[in-house]
Amino acid sequence: MKNVTGTAFIVAEFRAEENEEAIPLYTDHVVKIWLNEETKKVASHIAQSSPAAKEMVKLRTKYFDDVLSNQILGGCKQVVILGSGLDSRAARINGEGVIYFEIDDRATLQLKEETLKANKVTANVCYLPGDYVKDGLIPLLKQSEFDFARQTYFLWEGNTTLVDKKDVIFVLEQIRDNVPNFRVSFDYMSEKVILRTTGYQDINDYIDKYESMYAPWITGFEKIATLADELHLKVIENFSTADLYAQYRPRRSLESNLFKFYFVCTLENVVGGVSQEI
Ligand SMILES: C[S@@+](CC[C@H](N)C(=O)[O-])C[C@H]1O[C@@H](n2cnc3c(N)ncnc32)[C@H](O)[C@@H]1O
Repeated sequence: MKNVTGTAFIVAEFRAEENEEAIPLYTDHVVKIWLNEETKKVASHIAQSSPAAKEMVKLRTKYFDDVLSNQILGGCKQVVILGSGLDSRAARINGEGVIYFEIDDRATLQLKEETLKANKVTANVCYLPGDYVKDGLIPLLKQSEFDFARQTYFLWEGNTTLVDKKDVIFVLEQIRDNVPNFRVSFDYMSEKVILRTTGYQDINDYIDKYESMYAPWITGFEKIATLADELHLKVIENFSTADLYAQYRPRRSLESNLFKFYFVCTLENVVGGVSQEI
């Protein structure tokens, strides 16, 4: 599983586990169609060495589910998921006339589409196989019915740590320069984690172990407000997963210091675009 594509199966296993909680943060009854004994074995091996990973995936799933649901309730009809992997939201969270555009490699999207069909799960989704860095996000969207003038929600989950910093910035610039009315949500690590300067040895040990089994974490951001300022974007929300944990699991104590350095955020266009005040 030491490749970026394989990461989608691990994340999907972690996400699926929340369904077994007495009071789950979210329910995802679709994800199981992509899972099997092999994915379970690999994910459980990773979770044993890096237990925090599982909870971080669950916390971000709940956050992104909520933001996406609110976007749709607020009238957004167009959703783009970059590096969508085995994200099941197109089947789980929808509404009248809502269309999803999902970008990932061809094999992942093909498997996804075929399995959904075989299990009779319906989703209004347009699959765009490709690499949003090498092929470019905008050329990929231009191959489809994507409407650049329409209000759009971009979800970029479980990706920014795996992509070069210059490419993360380029993707955000591409969105800003081509889609006037958008919000984008993504998760990110503090740069201190990547540079091994958090001051917590357990975090450094964690990354070493995690990277030896998973895909290397190469990009982090210290202050999202600085990045947003540089890109002329507005920070709508920015939470550490420690904040989310306190909010979502008020009776449990924090499992790992890493939660303080792993964030989710939502940004919006302000220059030349329409700021969607909430
Ligand atoms: C960790 S998984 C996350 C999947 C999904 N977003 C989720 O959170 O469940 C990362 C996914 O992003 C995809 N990915 C990473 N870089 C990509 C790129 N440049 N273009 C297209 N897909 C990419 C990988 O193939 C993989 O499916």
